[in-house]
Amino acid sequence: MRVHASAGSKGTRSPETRGGVTVVVLAAGRGVRMNSKIPKVLHPVAGRPMLLWSMAAARALDPARTLVVTNPAQDGVQAALNGEGQTVPQRDQLGTGHALAQVSSEHRSIGPVVVIYADTPLLRGETLARLVDDHRKSGAAVTLLTASLTDPRGYGRIVRARNGAFRSIVEEKDAAADEREIHEVNSGVYCFSGRDLWPALFKLENKNRADEYYLTDVMKLIRGKVSTMAIADPTEILGINDRRQLAQAEATMRRRILDQLMEQGVTITDPNTTFVDADVQVGRDTVVHPFSVITGETTVGEDCVIGPFAQVRDSIIGDGCRVERAHLEQATLASNVTIGPFSRLRPGSMLDEGVRVGTHAEIKNSHIGAGTAIAHFSAVLDSDVGANANIGAGTVTANYDGQAKHRTEIGDRAQVGSDTILVAPVTVGHDAYTAAGSVITRDVPAGSLAIERSDQKIVEGWTARKRGQKTEVRKP
Ligand code: UD1
Ligand code: CA
Repeated sequence: MRVHASAGSKGTRSPETRGGVTVVVLAAGRGVRMNSKIPKVLHPVAGRPMLLWSMAAARALDPARTLVVTNPAQDGVQAALNGEGQTVPQRDQLGTGHALAQVSSEHRSIGPVVVIYADTPLLRGETLARLVDDHRKSGAAVTLLTASLTDPRGYGRIVRARNGAFRSIVEEKDAAADEREIHEVNSGVYCFSGRDLWPALFKLENKNRADEYYLTDVMKLIRGKVSTMAIADPTEILGINDRRQLAQAEATMRRRILDQLMEQGVTITDPNTTFVDADVQVGRDTVVHPFSVITGETTVGEDCVIGPFAQVRDSIIGDGCRVERAHLEQATLASNVTIGPFSRLRPGSMLDEGVRVGTHAEIKNSHIGAGTAIAHFSAVLDSDVGANANIGAGTVTANYDGQAKHRTEIGDRAQVGSDTILVAPVTVGHDAYTAAGSVITRDVPAGSLAIERSDQKIVEGWTARKRGQKTEVRKP
């Protein structure tokens, strides 16, 4: 049996496929060893799906085109690509060689064809660029990226002749005992000359333990020289086949991100307990203390102190802010804002310059004006609070009537007394006060006091009567 090209190929070669590099990313595999409901290549590493790490590495080549071989039955892969690259469907997963053979004839360029596997997220763009350079200089039919691993298990081994010349790649499944002893492995990263690749690819057979069309067998079929390039940093070639390797990739990537931040002038007190996603930016002289997790598309300004125990997701934090033992999601902080310990900012929290949020406060979908303090135990939900206001301990903006959410407005310099319940929709004007313990259901005009509670009653001698004069009541 032979590998067949995808349907609809016409055998014509359009002129633009002659120059430039073509990158083909193989992403259609079943990923059985992940034991997952989601496609392997969508599992994130440092917050970014593996496939997008491969796409980013490919961009370093400024390729003429990037093709992504995908399995049309796998949901979400196309969406994750977000319009980047052109997908090539592989309906049946018959091996890496079969995957590459799905590239239709109009894309089979004669120039350099770089093939990468989408389960290799640590591969650097610079490495790809070096591989292509090396390939161009040597004029080989194919240049393989290889690595020497202390533990080569799971990888295809590079078999060489006595004089060191490349012979073949043997997959672990098919390897003889002595071949398994080889530590030099195939990274799954190749730069082919298109002219030599395509004719050889269609000669592949699947006579092996896995009954698959191995791309690695092309090396035996290709006419022309097979050259190899050893990678400088072998951690780059880690292929993710199972969740253990996924965790390993995460650890390496995390360390890379933290190293880069430190080079950019960020202090990370303990890299072992700090987690920062790839798309996070942190300004100079910011200090990130232990047990902090900064994820998604987050930007942190300069001179901030984040952590210990800060969890920040998809948020914008200005300069000079302090976030300690707090949870922030889709929050925006201007400069010099302090949060925590033990507070939660939910989506749509917008805090202006110098706002102070203390302990056990929850804020959601609210704008808080500059200099305002929400120091203890408050729920500020669906509210617009002015500048320099004070929200007393235990304040709640009761935003939900069981059917709909309503907003609360609090003016500049307003003083909301402790344990005030503001039943929305309601407005507290500029410079207005609410007395402690009030349930405010009607608007409070600017500059006035609202007090809503019964007068205090004193029952004199009550204690002595209750205790039947058995105990003496001491004066305080
Ligand atoms: C492959 C190599 C092995 C190498 C290792 C490096 C082959 C035969 N073996 O083994 O020599 O050391 O990578 O990590 O190439 N894929 C498809 N369609 C398929 C099968 C796979 O698109 O039908 C894709 C997968 O999504 C994956 C990549 O190809 O991204 C590699 O497939 P995988 O099954 O992980 O190959 P390995 O066994 O790791
Ligand atoms: Ca793999």
